[in-house]
Amino acid sequence: MEQLCRWLEDAKGLPEEEGARMVLSTVGENGRPSSRVVLVKNYDSSGLVFYTNLRSRKARELDLQPYVSLCFHWSSLNRQIRVEGRVELVSDAEADAYFASRPRMSQIGAWASKQSSPASELELEKRVAYFTAKFGSGPVPRPPFWGGFRVVPDYLEFWEVRKFRLHFRECFRLTGEGWEKQWTKQRLFP
Ligand SMILES: Cc1cc2nc3c(=O)[nH]c(=O)nc-3n(C[C@H](O)[C@H](O)[C@H](O)COP(=O)(O)O)c2cc1C
Repeated sequence: MEQLCRWLEDAKGLPEEEGARMVLSTVGENGRPSSRVVLVKNYDSSGLVFYTNLRSRKARELDLQPYVSLCFHWSSLNRQIRVEGRVELVSDAEADAYFASRPRMSQIGAWASKQSSPASELELEKRVAYFTAKFGSGPVPRPPFWGGFRVVPDYLEFWEVRKFRLHFRECFRLTGEGWEKQWTKQRLFP
């Protein structure tokens, strides 16, 4: 987890939030995977947090199957990280604090978007206007259908370019239960 945080720190300065972009894959009821990009908003030794609409396709899939895979790729750093693990919802207090830090229009957008539902542009504009008027100049509370997931990893894989395509590849797997839990490290052929 220290190495994961170190590499994420190294990517922090990349333009257009590239360092925070990760492909998140979930599994649907039918056993089929689906992927999309989300932004990691917080990370530490307990895991990686992203925020989303809790009625979205990804959130509905996570309700039924709380396991995900994440993939970061930073071309300018010649690095990739793969993460696998289980998700848990972040606390209301943590989600409230993050929501309060977002720009006002993003807060309104969170209320206006019925993420992943069939939409028309007109309906989205109408909903933005409605919630803009509704909240006036007062604070915008976090919608009850919007929150964060923490990915708690049990598998990490680091990849970095080396000469002659003999790339560096190292994985860490968490095994055991409770106090017995431990990470084992393994180099892999590239
Ligand atoms: C660069 C980038 C960053 C994104 N960040 C987020 C995010 O942090 N949270 C989110 O819900 N969607 C984010 N999206 C949109 C998702 O990729 C996706 O379209 C949306 O969450 C709906 O996915 P779903 O229908 O599978 O739930 C981002 C898209 C891009 C291209």
